[in-house]
Amino acid sequence: MSHILVTGGAGFIGANFVIDWLRQEGAAGIVNVDKLTYAGNRKSLAALEGDVRHVFLQADICDTAAVTALLEAYRPRAVLHFAAESHVDRSIVSPGDFVQTNVVGTFRLLETVLEYWQALDAPARAAFRFLHVSTDEVFGSLAPADPPFTEVSRYLPNSPYSASKAASDHMVRAYHHTYGLPVLTTNCSNNYGPLQFPEKLIPLMITNAMVGKPLPVYGDGLHVRDWLYVGDHCAALREVLASGQPGATYNIGGLNEKTNLEVVQALCDLLDEVSPKTAGSYRNQITFVKDRPGHDRRYAVDAGKLARELGWKPSETFESGLRKTVQWYMQNAEWVQDVLSGNYRNWVGKQYVA
Ligand code: NAD
Ligand code: TYD
Repeated sequence: MSHILVTGGAGFIGANFVIDWLRQEGAAGIVNVDKLTYAGNRKSLAALEGDVRHVFLQADICDTAAVTALLEAYRPRAVLHFAAESHVDRSIVSPGDFVQTNVVGTFRLLETVLEYWQALDAPARAAFRFLHVSTDEVFGSLAPADPPFTEVSRYLPNSPYSASKAASDHMVRAYHHTYGLPVLTTNCSNNYGPLQFPEKLIPLMITNAMVGKPLPVYGDGLHVRDWLYVGDHCAALREVLASGQPGATYNIGGLNEKTNLEVVQALCDLLDEVSPKTAGSYRNQITFVKDRPGHDRRYAVDAGKLARELGWKPSETFESGLRKTVQWYMQNAEWVQDVLSGNYRNWVGKQYVA
């Protein structure tokens, strides 16, 4: 039992996790289950084509038979659950998709994994882990002087996205409490880095800036997020998987609160340095637009428990992480172009035409 099974491993954080995991010395193989929604991109995993340690299956986590077959075939020692609908703006327009994947999908996955886990022998049952990857957004919105979210903060989700993630967290907790499934839950702040779909703030701003489009800042731009480089999130997940206490939850954060306007201005300044325009600054492209309904004002995460108990802290500063991210988007124009044109959706078909 050495494989791990990952759901949603063709998405932003899942793909970074898979790639980083397989870079480790002697890494166990990965079985990757992803439905390939608009947010899933096989091209993000192109470097792993032909690598026998990575097995990819296009399937929905709601498809109990498909997931059961994979569990039986590969006998994983852990499941890391990334698959989700993840964009708040889409959740406002189509909340049903969020209920279906984040709530029903997590429930179906728990059912399937529970049945597999219960049939394992005692040592394998004890060693097994189900790591549920969740968000700080389940805790709602902070006032300016509030302390950051801890693991015991109240759940006060405000968007259909965060409400659906909160429901999934509760279901995961219940499967531990009721059936003894050895679960771990992480609640992480906003991630950024390579391979992020350009609907989220940072990649949207980079890709718009590069083609001269407006940089749309919602409302007054003073909403605060706590930004974490995706590689640091993946490192935290490896720590939690290796040494977390079953049944426990861990907050993961960047110790890095910024207003959206500060983030966008920092990006513009970086682009002015690495890819200057013939005239003027990228800051001139910043445009204030109508606010998001119900827009949470501030998120901030206290990641002290993870630091104290598992010794994790972020290794990137916001400056170093942002620089790496901008460089990645500039050096991967083809990935960006494929995503913007929609071509990434047929990549596998095109790639494997004889
Ligand atoms: P993403 O939207 O980039 O990727 C989600 C992936 O899940 C896609 O590959 C998609 O195809 C897949 N998927 C969606 N529905 C599926 C289904 N029914 N069955 C199988 N696969 C399905 O999301 P992300 O930003 O990589 O986020 C990953 C996880 O981390 C999510 O659970 C999210 O809630 C959580 N999270 C994200 C952030 C962030 O800043 N992006 C922060 C904290 C937590
Ligand atoms: P986003 O990346 O969608 O993450 P989340 O809503 O999960 O925090 O947005 C981050 C912040 O940036 C959020 O406060 C909304 C804001 N935002 C904009 O101002 N303009 C945009 O075009 C987008 C996508 C987000």
